[in-house]
Amino acid sequence: MFWSDTISKRVGVKYPVIQAPMFGVSTIQMVAAAARADCLGSLALGDLSSNESTELIRATKKLTDKPFAVNIFAHYIPEITDALKDQFFKTKNFLEQLAKENNIEVKLPDLSALTINGYHELIDVIIEEECKIVSFTFGNLDDQSIQKLKENEVTLIGTCTSVKEAVILEKSGIDIICVQGTEAGGHRGTFDPDYVPQIGGLSLLSQVYDHTKVPLIYAGGIYNAKTLQAVKELGAQGFQVGNLLLASQESALEPFEKDKLKKINEDEIILMKSFSGRYARGIQNKYTEIVENSDYILPYPYQNKLTNALRKAAKSQQNLDFVGIWAGQSIHKYSELSTEDILRNLILQTMEK
Ligand SMILES: Cc1cc2nc3c(=O)[nH]c(=O)nc-3n(C[C@H](O)[C@H](O)[C@H](O)COP(=O)(O)O)c2cc1C
Repeated sequence: MFWSDTISKRVGVKYPVIQAPMFGVSTIQMVAAAARADCLGSLALGDLSSNESTELIRATKKLTDKPFAVNIFAHYIPEITDALKDQFFKTKNFLEQLAKENNIEVKLPDLSALTINGYHELIDVIIEEECKIVSFTFGNLDDQSIQKLKENEVTLIGTCTSVKEAVILEKSGIDIICVQGTEAGGHRGTFDPDYVPQIGGLSLLSQVYDHTKVPLIYAGGIYNAKTLQAVKELGAQGFQVGNLLLASQESALEPFEKDKLKKINEDEIILMKSFSGRYARGIQNKYTEIVENSDYILPYPYQNKLTNALRKAAKSQQNLDFVGIWAGQSIHKYSELSTEDILRNLILQTMEK
């Protein structure tokens, strides 16, 4: 049998193929479509509030009665110091001016107006709503949260971008590790937001396989049968795809953003920090060219919250110079079929090979 059943049995789906959580791009409809393809859908909760998360979980359950994962950000929140206040003020002024010069009318929020949510409240929501699979990124969960979730029979999937992080996750009892290669679109799941692991995806996966005993999902660059089989050969038992679904029917990207993806050139896909304060892989544009090497990048999540309104305004103008589009290194046709069809085709292709 081609597919190992360790992960699929554990999470209760037929195929160990996972629709990547993609905060801002994946939707509840995408999660349900992945479930219809007998794969594992992932509901991205990011750093939403507990009320917003409860609503989304309930809405997803209305669309599917199949298992799905909920995904949260296990990030550390830097303290608000005088230096941060000062830097926030300067960055806000700089970005407002930059927007104005580029004909984008936008008022960015003050630091005091931001709502910053940690993940702890979401642990209770996950338990109350009886979610049984949780994936997370940007660090490890604290021991108490891990214990609480385990007592409630929740399967835990942690993300690593280095062997060191994988070993930490395994030691703290995480059930499945998602090895995120550098090819991946979106944020690097790195524990330390200022560090960029230089290791390539294949080396990372093979070495995590040698250093840990937990089942591994691989995420980063899978876009067809060949890439999926290559990572299976290196020890992956689960296969997570994000970039492959960016233009799907259920993606929240706008038509002009999907069109951009279809014309994308490899030089345009870079690692950037200027939209959110954390390294993420996406499409370079005028905004990143100006801000990436400037002093106007606050630590995550402050930069992310600050630039949110700017990105929204750019989106409503269909302004490619200022929108933030995450994308992975594996350029493909960016099919606009449904997530269900794209995943079914991937599975079919893989089984035919
Ligand atoms: C638009 C976008 C948003 C993402 N948001 C999240 C997220 O909310 N949580 C998460 O764990 N990973 C997130 N990721 C990373 C994916 O889970 C996954 O690692 C990546 O998509 C796999 O590589 P690929 O894009 O080459 O398929 C995101 C990726 C993309 C492209």
